[in-house]
Amino acid sequence: MNLSIPTPSLPEIFRMQLEKALQRLPQNEAKKVEIEVMPCAKEQFGHYQSNLALKLAKILQKPPMEIAEMLEKLLDKGEEIAHVSVTKPGFMNATFAKEALSKRVHALLEDPLLCAARPKSPQRIIVEFSSPNIAKELHVGHLRSTIIGESIARLLAFLGHDILRLNHVGDWGTQFGMLIAYIDKYAAFDTEKSPNLETLMHWYKEAKKQFDADPSFRTSSQQAVVSLQQGDARSLNLWKAICAISRTAFEEIYQLLDVHIEERGESFYNPQLAPMVKELEEQGMIEISDGAKCIFLDGFTNREGNRMPFMVQKSDGGFNYDTTDLAALKHRVLVEKADRIIIVTDLGQSLHFQLLFAAGKQVGYYDPSKVQVDHVGFGLVLGEDGKKFKTRSGETKKLVDLLKNAVVFAQKLVDEKSPDLSQSQRESLAKSLGISAVKYADLASHRQKDYTFSYARMLRFEGNTAVFLLYSYVRMLGIQRKVQAKKTPPLSVTLTHQTEISLGLHLLRFSEALAFAEKELHMHYLCDYLYHLAEKFNAFFRDCRVEGAKEEQQRLLLVEACRKVLQKGLYILGIPTVDRM
Ligand code: ARG
Repeated sequence: MNLSIPTPSLPEIFRMQLEKALQRLPQNEAKKVEIEVMPCAKEQFGHYQSNLALKLAKILQKPPMEIAEMLEKLLDKGEEIAHVSVTKPGFMNATFAKEALSKRVHALLEDPLLCAARPKSPQRIIVEFSSPNIAKELHVGHLRSTIIGESIARLLAFLGHDILRLNHVGDWGTQFGMLIAYIDKYAAFDTEKSPNLETLMHWYKEAKKQFDADPSFRTSSQQAVVSLQQGDARSLNLWKAICAISRTAFEEIYQLLDVHIEERGESFYNPQLAPMVKELEEQGMIEISDGAKCIFLDGFTNREGNRMPFMVQKSDGGFNYDTTDLAALKHRVLVEKADRIIIVTDLGQSLHFQLLFAAGKQVGYYDPSKVQVDHVGFGLVLGEDGKKFKTRSGETKKLVDLLKNAVVFAQKLVDEKSPDLSQSQRESLAKSLGISAVKYADLASHRQKDYTFSYARMLRFEGNTAVFLLYSYVRMLGIQRKVQAKKTPPLSVTLTHQTEISLGLHLLRFSEALAFAEKELHMHYLCDYLYHLAEKFNAFFRDCRVEGAKEEQQRLLLVEACRKVLQKGLYILGIPTVDRM
């Protein structure tokens, strides 16, 4: 079997046979109808279904049941489909032969990509995520971005794309003027030995207060920005020191989460801003509005019917968030040669990115038929009281504490459920489970909805949780430890029992789950898939004896296929597997 060109998938096989049957119809007007094939809602009807007959009813002026029966007669089932049934109100359902499914599960076992569909041509994809702001603490919004972005990057890399992960940190702008002016005024860096992020945030708050209240402080802040932008050595050094403090704090989180990302903050684009705006002006792309330089967007109108502006330079000559993002877009397309750009932030920034993408297109920085741009937005994190997630003092929760508390919570659970493990085993298990639970709870919920943060819920042993999936994984390992795999005679997967067939079919759907997640950039599809895999595995384990059965060795192969798919799926979600629980 040629591994780089996988055979057509099960739904594709059914679709191709339906296509042939369709072409055999005498009515020409029917032949262009697009054929859709979906998994059957209920397995007793079959494995895949199509609503083709329902679609044809209008064109052919016949009842759908009659058309379905006619198509069924014209259909050549080929080698893999065992039978096709017709159910009301006109669905056609294909059931695959268990021999065909067995063969395919065996092929999956031998394929490093587990039969995932390879892209026609691998793309260069930039995934921008996390992107916290210097001198401010990361908050739950950044946590969501980090978890979702990391997982999307892993998915796309697994499918064979070339991924550049970028951390677009907020490391430039007026806040540094304030901070530098504050540090200058109070000689804060000298009195404080080695300030940490907390101290820095405190300075930032104090500086902001003074900035709002004291005009002379405002002037010195503005001067500090100018001197920083002009490359004044002392300002630059202070700026670097401030960034370094924040970076250490961010790194702690990334290490806990096992996230690897390249920092390329706003400051990186700073030298490109003035030349970019100048060039846009020369090209006649800029209109002045109240002294500010703007790109007025075709196709984006406000309530009064006027085109909406995308501001690239403020009336005071300063650049802003929009300018930097436009420069980043340009750089990513022209220099990084991205085929696709994915930016992961909260949904609150949706309009900003719509306008950015429209502006980029309008000034010719990318051609939408060649470069795909996506804003992957997500909802809020809520506390169990249903309100926006906050600590008692009203500050957005500190992320490190949030993660560390998850580990504490997991520790209680592990101590209670796994008393037979050693102390150090329990500690490392708790660390892994706590962090995994937080990640999984986030990824398993529909990202555009707000999600409720609850340690108790995310650490349940039953239901759609990381703990349940990891526990199922440990059960798989348990069987493998107990039953020796024999290399001879060479055996192959042989699905016989109903729960085995159902499990085998589900394994073959891994590629569908990945394709779906990729298309929509929704990771909960993969979570749902893995949850059902674990459930089907547990049903198989309940119904089919492995140890000592005459099918022992064949069933062991099926267990190994499950283990591989579950491990890979969890890996894509950023969740490491554990050996014992
Ligand atoms: N630093 C921003 C924030 O914390 C997020 C940056 C998102 N990315 C971008 N290209 N604008 O809200």
